[in-house]
Amino acid sequence: MRRNKVTVVGAGAVGSTSAHWIATKELADVVLVDLVNGLPQGVALDLASSGPVEDFDLKIVGTNDYEPTADSDVILITAGVPRKKDPVTGKFPSRDELVKINQDVVGPLTEKLAKYSPNSIIIVVTNPLDAMCHVVKSVSGFPRERVIGQAGALDTARYKTFIAMELGVSVEDVHGIVLGGHGDEMVPLPRHTSVSGIPLRELMSEDKIQAIIERTRKGGGEIVGLMGRSAYYAPASASVSMIESILKDKKRVIASAVYLQGEYGYKDLFIGVPAVLGAKGVEKIIEMDLNAEEKGMLEVSAKAVRSVVDVMGLK
Ligand code: 2OP
Repeated sequence: MRRNKVTVVGAGAVGSTSAHWIATKELADVVLVDLVNGLPQGVALDLASSGPVEDFDLKIVGTNDYEPTADSDVILITAGVPRKKDPVTGKFPSRDELVKINQDVVGPLTEKLAKYSPNSIIIVVTNPLDAMCHVVKSVSGFPRERVIGQAGALDTARYKTFIAMELGVSVEDVHGIVLGGHGDEMVPLPRHTSVSGIPLRELMSEDKIQAIIERTRKGGGEIVGLMGRSAYYAPASASVSMIESILKDKKRVIASAVYLQGEYGYKDLFIGVPAVLGAKGVEKIIEMDLNAEEKGMLEVSAKAVRSVVDVMGLK
C-alpha cells in the first residue's frame, strides 16, 4: 500500500510545527523543503528522532531540492517573508505590504512543486493569504478544487478560543465560523455562533461580542505585538486540520479560501467560505444564507482582497 506523502515548503516555525503535528498524528511521510542549507535537514532529523519516543513511524526528510517532493498528495506552502519589525522604522508591515515580496517567493517555487506533483492538492499559508492563493493558482494551473487557502480555519479557531475564554466554557462546545479574507476585514459571524447549540447572543452582551470580533480580526497582529514575530502554533494546527480532512477524506466543513466562481456573488476571487474538504480537495462550497449586514461585511472584505490582488498584476 502506498503511504501518504505531504510536502511542507518552508522550515520556519509554521512549517516545522506543521510537520510536527503531521508526524504526531501519523498522517503522512513528510518532505520539508527550504532554501537555507541545513535547516530543513536539521529540523527533519530532529523530528524523525522523536519517532521512537512518540511512537510514530514515518519517513521525514529535509531537502533544499524539489525532486524529493515528487508525487506528494498534499503540499503546504508556508515559505515567505513573515511579519517582523523593521529594524529602522520599528514598524510591523501589514499582511498586505508583503504582497510583492512574497509573490516573488511563492511564484517560482509553485512552478517546481506543480512540475513534480501535478496531481497534488496545495494548501497556501503564506501571507497575504488570499493574494498568494491567486499566485499559486495562476502559476500551477491547477483546478480550483486543488488550491486552497488556510485562513478561516485559523481565524475561526481564534474566534472560538476568545469566546470560550470570555464565557469560561470549554472550547469544545463553541461552534462558529469566520468568513472573508485573512485580513483586518474578515467576517466573524455571531448569528451563526453557538455554545452547545445555545445562540451566542443569549450568552454574551453585544459589546462583548463586538470586542471579540475585533480581537479576532487583529488576532495575528496581537501575537506579533507580543512576540515580535508571527504566530505558528495555531496557524500550523489549522493547516494540519485541513490536511487531515483531505488525507482521510473526512469531508469536514472548514472555512477555507476558495476561488469563487459566482458563489456568494463573487467571481475569480479567493475568499474564505465554508468548504467541504475531502480526498479531491474542495469538494463543495456551502452557500450560507447571509443577511444584509453580513453580506455588507463580506463585500468590504472582498474589496480589500481584490485591492491586494490587483497590485500583483496577475493574468
Ligand atoms: C496570523 O494570522 C501570520 O497570518 C498569520 O497569525
